Amino acid sequence: MSAQDIRRCAVVTGASSGLGEEFARQLAPACRTLVLIARRGERLEKLARILRAEHAGLEVGVLSADLTDPSAREAVIAKIAAAKLQPDLLVNNAGMGDYGEFSEAEWPKLESMLKLNIEALTHLAHALVPLMKAGGGGSIINVSSLASLLPIPDFAVYAATKAYVTSFSEALRIEVAPHGISVTALCPGPVHTEFGEVAMKEGSGNKFPGREFFYVEAEQVVREALLGASANRARVFPGWQVAAAAVVISALPIVLIRLAMGTRPRR
Ligand SMILES: NC(=O)c1ccc[n+]([C@@H]2O[C@H](COP(=O)([O-])OP(=O)(O)OC[C@H]3O[C@@H](n4cnc5c(N)ncnc54)[C@H](OP(=O)(O)O)[C@@H]3O)[C@@H](O)[C@H]2O)c1
Repeated sequence: MSAQDIRRCAVVTGASSGLGEEFARQLAPACRTLVLIARRGERLEKLARILRAEHAGLEVGVLSADLTDPSAREAVIAKIAAAKLQPDLLVNNAGMGDYGEFSEAEWPKLESMLKLNIEALTHLAHALVPLMKAGGGGSIINVSSLASLLPIPDFAVYAATKAYVTSFSEALRIEVAPHGISVTALCPGPVHTEFGEVAMKEGSGNKFPGREFFYVEAEQVVREALLGASANRARVFPGWQVAAAAVVISALPIVLIRLAMGTRPRR
């Protein structure tokens, strides 16, 4: 497995469900230490118990933290430093969406999304890059989205946060390459996780939009992400259908993208 390059410590945010949990499972055989972060500590503890039982010698640290809160992020960073961990891999995965018309969105949810998808991801990279530099290298996987390539009505703020993640990852990768650090933007299309449930308004009764044909299993998304990071790829679009969509979207002029987005079914 590509994760074999990771010898010491991997930090995974949003490890209590979905892609983050899958990252933890696939990294466990190749790591000495895993640090799992999310708000739901009991879920992380349960996963940690399973991984410790399955992989002799694996240390799993659980940090329950709300990453939208800067002081909670500082506490996480301080705990990693106090434990004298030398992270080889940061999987900046924790993220959320908010589906629906911008003018009807609840500000606290939009604010949380901006803080989590942009601020927390940037803050953790900023804290861990110096440790990786000091350790002679490492890898960062920033979980972005296919949505980072498109302005998406009803998903306007989410898509914009992911455009930030992809752009930031591309620039950071150039800055840190001389220090032996790779940065990969993981850009999945739709994946069945708890993401849709969180993104929908409570009680709206709406089904999260997306054609089943485009869905890729979490196992495949993470496998391709780890392979891509090992190969030092700038962007990974997991699943052939998502990779093909990325090629088409990237080739389209913005006028055509505007037309296509304007005729997209809305809710
Ligand atoms: N699923 C998709 O279709 C899809 C497509 C493209 C990109 N993505 C991206 O993939 C990443 C993972 O999402 P997912 O699909 O696996 O969704 P998910 O199942 O909802 O997982 C989200 C993870 O983020 C954590 N999280 C949420 N708010 C947090 C907070 N304030 N502080 C700390 N952790 C927080 C959640 O844990 P707690 O609730 O326990 O805190 C959970 O572990 C996200 O960045 C998402 O944007 C998903």
